[in-house]
Amino acid sequence: MKRELESQLAAAEKAARAAGAIIKNRFETDFQVALKGPGDLVTEVDRACEDKIRSILAETHPEIAFWGEESGSTDRNATYSWVVDPLDGTKNFVHGYPFVAVSIGLIRNSHPILGVIYDPLRNELFSAAEEAGATLNERPITVSRTDSMQDAMVVTSLNSMPQHRMDLVSQACTYCQGVRRGGAAALDLAQIAAGRIDAAWEWSLCPWDLAAAYVIITEAQGTVTQPDGRPFDLHSGQVLASNTNLHPAFIHLINQ
Ligand code: IPD
Ligand code: CA
Ligand code: CA
Repeated sequence: MKRELESQLAAAEKAARAAGAIIKNRFETDFQVALKGPGDLVTEVDRACEDKIRSILAETHPEIAFWGEESGSTDRNATYSWVVDPLDGTKNFVHGYPFVAVSIGLIRNSHPILGVIYDPLRNELFSAAEEAGATLNERPITVSRTDSMQDAMVVTSLNSMPQHRMDLVSQACTYCQGVRRGGAAALDLAQIAAGRIDAAWEWSLCPWDLAAAYVIITEAQGTVTQPDGRPFDLHSGQVLASNTNLHPAFIHLINQ
């Protein structure tokens, strides 16, 4: 791994673990919840996590811009920027449903080059940097070898969607071995890198849901594009990620 990325990865891991400790401590406690928009929750814990991450990253890498879900971007035109979801799965957190994560990506000219996703409740740290492979709790990971749709366990959005996308969920239930939805997009996607999920697709996401997951999945030999097969675009909000073997089959299913 490039020396510079080593230091950035260490900083991102430190920040993710620190925010994860806050999430774990506050899980199933009382905290303030507010609405950012219709159906879009934020808690005081989301904000506390973002503050913590931001200060740790600024200590070690003050030269890198910061873009967080809760506080926005310090410099939209920066070449290098952290892209941070301090608490992915806020609705889960509010309901005490134990599937939440911290997601920290680093982008260079809008392209993700490093990612860390931390599940504090299972103490699982997914990490990757460009050309350095992906790890889970420091052990190298790769995607599954599943090569038939009927053996595939997939994840997709169950948010309110147009009817044709609802129909796609129903088709996935028919053609795949299982359909799951954890409710924390970054953590759902990270499961592909560990070989636990074979494919996932979703629309209406944000850059902080996708940046770290892109690096972790591609470095684990997976493939990440848009659902219609076009190249991945951090700002598109849409994703199809798979174990690579199944990518053509899911592009076909989604776009038929
Ligand atoms: C949400 C989750 C959810 C996804 C939503 C995201 P948040 O993130 O990742 O799985 O479907 O689009 O907004 O708000 O919990 O960080
Ligand atoms: Ca999120
Ligand atoms: Ca969030």
